[in-house]
Order: sequence, then structure tokens, then C-alpha cells
Amino acid sequence: MSLEKLTRDKNVIAIVCNQWGDSGKGKLVDWLAASWADIVVRGTGGGNAGHTMKSGSLVHIGHLIPCGILNENVQNFIGNGVVFDPRGVCEELDELSHIKGIDTGLLKIAYNAKLILPQHLVMDRIKEAAASAGEKIGTTGKGIGPCYTDHYARIGLTVNDMLNKDVFARKLKRNLRDKIVLLEQYDKDIIRKIMQHDHLEKGVFWDRNNIFDNNEIIERYAEYGKRLSSFIADTDSLIKAALANGTKILLEGAQGHGLSIDYGTMPYVTSSDCSIPGLTKGAGLSERNVDLVIGVVKAPYKTRVGEGPFVTEIGGGKSAQWCADYKHTKEVEQEEYPNANINSKDEFIQGIGIRKAGGEYGATTGRPRRVGWLDLPWLRYAMQTNGYMIALTKMQVFDGAAKIKICDSYTYTGPDYNLAGRTLSKGDVLHTASTDLDVLKHCEPNYTTLPGWSERTENIKNFDRLPTNAKGLVSYIEEKTGARAGILSMGPDRSQTIVR
Ligand code: IMO
Ligand code: MG
Repeated sequence: MSLEKLTRDKNVIAIVCNQWGDSGKGKLVDWLAASWADIVVRGTGGGNAGHTMKSGSLVHIGHLIPCGILNENVQNFIGNGVVFDPRGVCEELDELSHIKGIDTGLLKIAYNAKLILPQHLVMDRIKEAAASAGEKIGTTGKGIGPCYTDHYARIGLTVNDMLNKDVFARKLKRNLRDKIVLLEQYDKDIIRKIMQHDHLEKGVFWDRNNIFDNNEIIERYAEYGKRLSSFIADTDSLIKAALANGTKILLEGAQGHGLSIDYGTMPYVTSSDCSIPGLTKGAGLSERNVDLVIGVVKAPYKTRVGEGPFVTEIGGGKSAQWCADYKHTKEVEQEEYPNANINSKDEFIQGIGIRKAGGEYGATTGRPRRVGWLDLPWLRYAMQTNGYMIALTKMQVFDGAAKIKICDSYTYTGPDYNLAGRTLSKGDVLHTASTDLDVLKHCEPNYTTLPGWSERTENIKNFDRLPTNAKGLVSYIEEKTGARAGILSMGPDRSQTIVR
């Protein structure tokens, strides 16, 4: 199938991730923006996302600004569902326009997007710093959870509030009231240290007596408001008008199904619904407007950043612990395990080899990403919500692998457990994943081993030319799950994309 056939008669296409993020959404959004879309809209998440795009020699990592931005005729909207950090966006704008020479004039920011404030970053970081080992989530520290919490607690601020100083000051005062009470239980020195961080503008918001200097926040945010005012718009109305005009709209998901607040592995999730229902709502549309959902799936492996269950983790608990340590950067891994590769016999070292081959180090935090085998029970679960069209990404990372393992099902090995009207017993087999942690922690993966291929695949443009075993892997995934792998991304560049 050609791109033309894939997109024929489509007005709205959405890209979401069926795993735990970092699956290549950015690349696919940039590719479809270059070849098809008129407008790209981000609907969820915030600066926690790290979306990598590559066009020729230009490489860009976007966090909040949508991945259509490298295409000069494409409009990019930050939708109402996004938690908006003005400092982060200004930094991205500077990088795009001053360093990379990209025209950002067509960017629009939803006036009703949720505003990230310094207290959100502080709350996020202090909670993580104070949590005991088993209770950490491993957040990105970008204030995501506290900002969404304020929205649902009905005390949040919006982007528009930056444009009206008095309103901002009134709402800020109300917003800070609860925070101060909560923060009083922590050591002030720790709070002060957290506030010295670059992301908190190196301590300017710190006030020895009141923790936060309200006036400083009011003044800084008024400045941001001035700088960003020409971008701020009613994107909900604009997107509905665009839909009515037949404009081609691409929705850019962030994070992944396993991190969704509604569908993920609670509490090891982010605080938005990053699956298709949340994405469409946060972009100002509804699910019935979407003509095609593409669920991105890294294959034959998957990654996770931060804490949480990972049934197919390569190297198990030892790998999880290793990755939880920020000191284990790409350079440290290379130095300590120079010979690690995708065929290493020891699974812990093989995990490092896969991480190295796939460049699996956080685009937002630099953390080593935990790696594991592709997990079909999870994919079946995710597709129930996100649909059956999938894009397989990064298969080329496994060029040269002797063997590939795929998890077909889980065997439950724990004590009797009541789950949704049935009792799970030891030995029961699950073909579709549950998100219940007390189930997942007792699940063992059942693997099928497939043969690998030795050829390099990154520049193959036609599905039929792929090595037989690579094609076999794709068919295996399709047959076992009912998915249709319509797109294969064989590398970071737009040109490394196969439509079938
Ligand atoms: P993209 O869009 C992978 C993870 C964090 C943490 C959890 C909660 O690049 O795929 P948060 O800061 O959101 O409160 O952290 O979610 N996380 C991601 N993992 N890719 C992402 O985004 C992520 N955004 C958040 O690591 O475990
Ligand atoms: Mg990412």
C-alpha cells in the first residue's frame, strides 16, 4: 500500500503509542506532517515528552511544541489538554528559531491549556525526593502530576491567565494556599535546594518566609504572557472550523497507553489519558472525528522509563535497579560494558547491548530506558482502546540478532486473587494483559523464539525486500494479535519509512 492509499479520504489521523512511550511518535508525526497534514495538534502531557525528529542533517527533540514544526507550511497547535510550561516553550522557541532557523510563526497555543507554575515543579520533585524506594514513580520532574491535580481540584490556572495580571495574582494566591500547607511538612532546606534548579529559574521564586515569592511569579509569568501573546488562541474553535473545512489534521499523542492515567499501570503512570480518548479531547475534537488511529509499537522490544511492572524486562530486577540509577548514563554503560551487544548471553548485559543499539536513553531526562521483549498480551490490551492499525518501529535495531523472543501470554504464579468477577489461580494463562499490579507482579512471560536476520534493513524502502525472517516477525505479530502493521519505521529519518 502507498501513503496515498493509507491517507485517502482521511481528514483526521491520530498517532498514539501502545506501549510506555518513546516508540517513535515524533518521527512518524514529522513524516506525516511533511507528506500529508496541514495542522498538527498535541493534546496531552507536557514537557515530560521527548519527541525526536530527523530531516537530513537536522535533528530536533521537541517537548511541548508539536512535531510538525520543521515543516514551514504546517500549522502547529498546543491543545487544551496540555500542561503548558511557558519557560520550556520559550526555550524551545529560541532553539528552533535562533539556532535552527525554523519559522515558528504558525504555532498556536490553546488559551485554556493548563498552566504549569513553579509550585508544580516543586511539588513533583519533593514528593519524589521524599518517597521511599518502593513508592517512587520516577517522574520526569516537570510538574505534570501536580498541574493536572490542580485542574481537577478546580484551582488550576490557564495559559490565558498570563495575559491578565490581576486575575493571575488572585488565582495564584488561591492556588498556593494549599501548597504551602502541604510543603510545611518538608525540610525547608530541601525545598530551597529544589528551587535552585534551572527549571525553576535558579531560585528566583524562593522566599525564606513564605516559600514562594508571589510577586516574582506574577512578574515572570506576565513577561512570558507578553512574549507568547501572539501565539495564544482559541484552538478548540480553530480546530473545529478546520475540521469543517476539510483541512487535514494530525493528532500527536504523547507518552503511551501503559502510562495513561485511565488505562495504564497505576500508580506508575503519568497524569493524563495519553490514549486515543484523551488525545482527541485534549486536541479539541472527539473520537468520532478521527478517521485513522495509528498505534505505535516498538518491535521486537519495548522500553520503560521510571518505575513500574515490566513482565518481559530483559535481565529482570537487576536491570530495573541499574536503570533506576541516574548515574548509569550512556557513557558509563559504554565504559563498564564495552562489549555488550544484542546477542550477549548474559541477559543483563544483553539489555545494555539493546539499549546501546537502539539509543535508548531518555530524550527528556537522559536516563537509561529499561528494555524488554515485545509483549503481545499488552499489545492486545492496548489495541482494545487504540484500534488495530499499528506502526512497527525500530526493527532495524535487531539487525544481526541471532534470536528474537516474543511474549505470547503470561502465566499467573501468585496466590488466588479476585479479579473482575473471577478468581485467578496459580497456573492460569493470560492472553490479554491486566493492569492490576498485584496480578502483574506474579506474571511470568511465555515466549516464542523466532530466528533473526543478518542483513541491514535501515534503508530498505519496500516491504517485500525485507529479509524473510523480518517479514516473518511482522506476520507473527499480526497473526497473533489481529493487528495490521500498515507502517514500518526503519530508522529516525523521514525517508526510512515503509507503508504496506
Ligand atoms: P514520550 O512522549 C516515556 C514516564 C516517566 C514516569 C511516568 C510519570 O516521549 O513518549 P511524569 O513526569 O509524566 O509524571 O512521569 O511517566 N513518562 C514517559 N516515559 N516517554 C514519555 O513521553 C514519558 N512521559 C512520562 O518516566 O515513569
Ligand atoms: Mg520520548
